[in-house]
Amino acid sequence: MDDKNPLICSCNEIYQQEIEQAIREKNLKTIEEVGDETTAGTVCGACVDEIFLILEKINGKVDL
Ligand code: FES
Repeated sequence: MDDKNPLICSCNEIYQQEIEQAIREKNLKTIEEVGDETTAGTVCGACVDEIFLILEKINGKVDL
């Protein structure tokens, strides 16, 4: 287990670094955009809160 790259979305096996990279490269603003881009959060929804926190960390805020 890599503490710096935790598994965020276990449904689709999406790790934190993949989400952060997609947000930075594609300038993603919403949880929906992250889902469209990475598929994270699109199955059971349990990881949506974590995606929110990653968006907030990178962008300083989250558009809904
Ligand atoms: S854990 Fe991400 S959609 Fe289920």
